[in-house]
Amino acid sequence: MSKSKTIYFCQNCGNQSPKWVGKCPVCNEWNTYAEELIDKNEEKLKEKRGYAVKKNEVARPVPILEVHELEAARLDTLDSELNRVLGGGIVPGSLILIGGEPGIGKSTLMLQLALQLKNKKVLYVTGEESDRQIKLRADRIGIQNPGCYLLNETNTQQIFKQAEELAPDIIVVDSIQTLHSVYVESPPGSVSQVRECTAELQRFAKESNIPVFLIGHITKDGSIAGPKVLEHIVDTVLQFEGDRNYTYRILRTIKNRFGSTSEIGIYEMLGDGLRAVINPSEILLTQRDENLSGIAIGSLLEGMRPFLIETQALVTPAFYGTPQRSATGFDVRRMNMLLAVLEKRAGFRFGTKDVFLNIAGGLRVEDPAIDLAVVAALVSSYNDIAVSSKIAFAAEVGLSGEVRAVNRVDQRISEADKLGFHKIFISKFNQKIDLKKYNIEVVAISKVQQLVAELFG
Ligand code: TYD
Ligand code: MG
Repeated sequence: MSKSKTIYFCQNCGNQSPKWVGKCPVCNEWNTYAEELIDKNEEKLKEKRGYAVKKNEVARPVPILEVHELEAARLDTLDSELNRVLGGGIVPGSLILIGGEPGIGKSTLMLQLALQLKNKKVLYVTGEESDRQIKLRADRIGIQNPGCYLLNETNTQQIFKQAEELAPDIIVVDSIQTLHSVYVESPPGSVSQVRECTAELQRFAKESNIPVFLIGHITKDGSIAGPKVLEHIVDTVLQFEGDRNYTYRILRTIKNRFGSTSEIGIYEMLGDGLRAVINPSEILLTQRDENLSGIAIGSLLEGMRPFLIETQALVTPAFYGTPQRSATGFDVRRMNMLLAVLEKRAGFRFGTKDVFLNIAGGLRVEDPAIDLAVVAALVSSYNDIAVSSKIAFAAEVGLSGEVRAVNRVDQRISEADKLGFHKIFISKFNQKIDLKKYNIEVVAISKVQQLVAELFG
């Protein structure tokens, strides 16, 4: 019989302690420690464990030139967005974590993948929903795939046994929080279970060379599946996000051992599943006949892909003591900084105004090149003078009001050009731009004052 002992785990960061503590010394969160049972004979157990490292297999150094490339072997998901965020398809034997808030569409995305891959065998393991619920969802998506198998199981070793028999090309596990391993005694969803199950899945994926997609719920503070430890174990972490009140969803790469982490995929949630959005600019720019004040369009890059997006600002007199500042899809501290720059460098008085900022489509923008569009939208609303909907912006704004260069400005200009914009404002410090190849007028400026003068002067 194996002896067990009690260990306390921080449910936030996964740190362990022999006794209960109120405040985690690692992540500084309060009241996150929970009791979990751990097997004392863990070392012995490891030998019995399936998918543990085999003792007699001795690793030998291999010349790097003899290591085969992964690229050729990547599996096409038939989904342009998913391929993009994975760095060009699924790498065999990789473990991919898909995180996201409940209800965002993780199960839909994965089921759709399982149904789309018609000439492949896909095993969809679910501990969350019954087979009939999944079938209902599959009917909604409306694709038939005889190679898609459902398995209602939460025991990891059983899952591996079934997977070995079926020998699928891909496995989807929905979700990590429902799995349990017989080697750990604590309940499903606890730190030690989640960690053990993920490690077992990783070993299984590596040994069988079958890629595994693992769905994980996000906790309220935004970390995937509670413990950060999970992110270290898996090869790729994708985050599915978006505002539930909008139909757009973004699949973002957080970590990728096989590709870039700056890629995003954009989807639209429709009545019959998720649709990949191939040309994001067309949906992120609202169609309007008249020019309205407070709107400016930024030319952004997410990963390798340029798109134009609308920023909307509303500046109104504040009737209460403290003016309100609120931003959706943009960092409110950055907005405050831009307001301070406009106060100091261009003489605007925002101190007595409420300021609201919104990025179209419920997207969250991190590209600093949107700064100039934000500034233009703010000043446009302040003056109540519209900016032409044929003007785009692509530059960062610094603390002294300088308009700074951004990367790959060529791509931003040509995207705006392609979409029929007449003018684009960029930084004077972006060098070596071949203006002859564009129809669009490129205005290079160095200070926000110049922007204000050009637009409203
Ligand atoms: P779901 O995939 O269950 O989310 P998660 O697994 O992340 O918790 O889907 C969530 C929402 O998507 C649900 O509210 C219904 C909606 N939905 C659609 O709008 N269209 C569809 O075709 C499907 C399958 C779901
Ligand atoms: Mg789900």
